[in-house]
Amino acid sequence: MRTVVSIILAAGEGTRMKSALPKVLHAICGQPMVAYVLRAVLDAGCRKNYLVVGYRAEEVIETLKSFLSLREKRIEFVRQSRLLGSGHAVLQTKKDLKGYGGDVLVVNGDLPLLSGATLNRLVQAHFKQKNSLTILGAILKDPSGYGRIVENRANDEKRIRIVEERDATPRERRINRVNAGVYCFQAKDLFKALAKIRPDNRKKEYYLTDAAKILSEMGKKVGMVIAKDSSEVEGVNNRKQLANVQKCINMKNLERLMFNGVTIVDPSSTFVDSTVRIGRDTIVYPGSSILGKTRIGENCRLGPYAFIQDCRIDKDVEVRASFIYGAKIAERAKVGPFSHIRPGTVVGEDVRVGNFCEVKKSKIGQGTKVSHLSYIGDSFLGKNVNIGAGTITCNFDGIRKNITRVGDNTFVGSDTKFIAPVKIGKGAVIGAGSTITEDVPAGKLAI
Ligand code: UD1
Ligand code: CA
Repeated sequence: MRTVVSIILAAGEGTRMKSALPKVLHAICGQPMVAYVLRAVLDAGCRKNYLVVGYRAEEVIETLKSFLSLREKRIEFVRQSRLLGSGHAVLQTKKDLKGYGGDVLVVNGDLPLLSGATLNRLVQAHFKQKNSLTILGAILKDPSGYGRIVENRANDEKRIRIVEERDATPRERRINRVNAGVYCFQAKDLFKALAKIRPDNRKKEYYLTDAAKILSEMGKKVGMVIAKDSSEVEGVNNRKQLANVQKCINMKNLERLMFNGVTIVDPSSTFVDSTVRIGRDTIVYPGSSILGKTRIGENCRLGPYAFIQDCRIDKDVEVRASFIYGAKIAERAKVGPFSHIRPGTVVGEDVRVGNFCEVKKSKIGQGTKVSHLSYIGDSFLGKNVNIGAGTITCNFDGIRKNITRVGDNTFVGSDTKFIAPVKIGKGAVIGAGSTITEDVPAGKLAI
């Protein structure tokens, strides 16, 4: 069987993004755009994948490593120290591929909608047609910005070449068959062609796309495959394309959830990252964003207007119009409306955190109620505690963050201030309007 490895081009700066961040690291639904391309080549079964990095290479490598984890073994980073064009980028893998006689998929790193299935179709056609190079093309209504695939007949022979838009004649520009930026090469021919590429174009770059013409002229067979779904080849060069692509990927994420038993009441106003998992029979109401490494159990009610990032939410939880980050919410808890739950918080089973409450780095025991207008910070609230309206933990003394502990079954009257550090024993009663500066023993009344 013939083997296929991939080369992903991700060294460019991405000038048109007008950004301090390298283009391939721009996030799309919670993942850097190049991570989607990696997923596609891995899905296509490439055993080895060379990612060419250049512009702020360290940053690209560091970021990607946190997304690759297990599959990292199949990915290797290759440096392009001077950014002289896509052909020059591919050339950087020459040492790694020395002696390799199989085939190579070359994929631009800015094609996050590309699927493994389309890559497979390209590779199969490449094998079947016994091509030296097979180009993935697409027919676009508006081909502007893309290289065009030009077909010529030279004494009964079909010849294919690619012309970049800025080097094209007006007639060539009318061609709506574009180069997707995805190619399958016989490795040996690829490097022969690369040796012949010259920077004789407007940008003075070594264009990989010139390989088509070079191989044709060498008498090699160059073919093409047209993408069935032209939206797959949308390249991201600017923020407008970034938004378009993000919309598509978001919709795919929502569809995946819906087919797995999640109700999305209004897909057009709901945003779910590719990294999120949601259990069946959960309902997501309009205006909600569920992001990052969030895991949500079955049968939850989320939104309207829930913003949930990097959280673990068990089953039967309700979150209404609230912001929650880096928190854990246990079964049957109810959060909101208008709560802000900050990282490090653990909300226990059957807890209620209600209207206009902020909770930071605190543990709230089972069945406890913090129903109205409270700030709970650096606190441990036991089970079945009732926190009255307007209760505040005064956790910061100007230097240190201090801890408040409240034992099980304690009743805290409205408008209480806990001057931390302070500890309230189990079953105590705090009168409304108290400012508590000292520890309260279990079962006692404090005013
Ligand atoms: C490229 C193609 C164009 C095609 C389009 C499809 C070339 C010359 N042109 O144009 O025919 O229609 O993609 O989206 O290839 N890169 C490097 N090192 C470099 C230069 C670029 O790694 O020195 C990488 C970039 O990070 C990017 C890819 O190569 O992922 C393509 O570069 P880009 O500048 O986006 O090319 P396009 O103008 O989109
Ligand atoms: Ca591009």
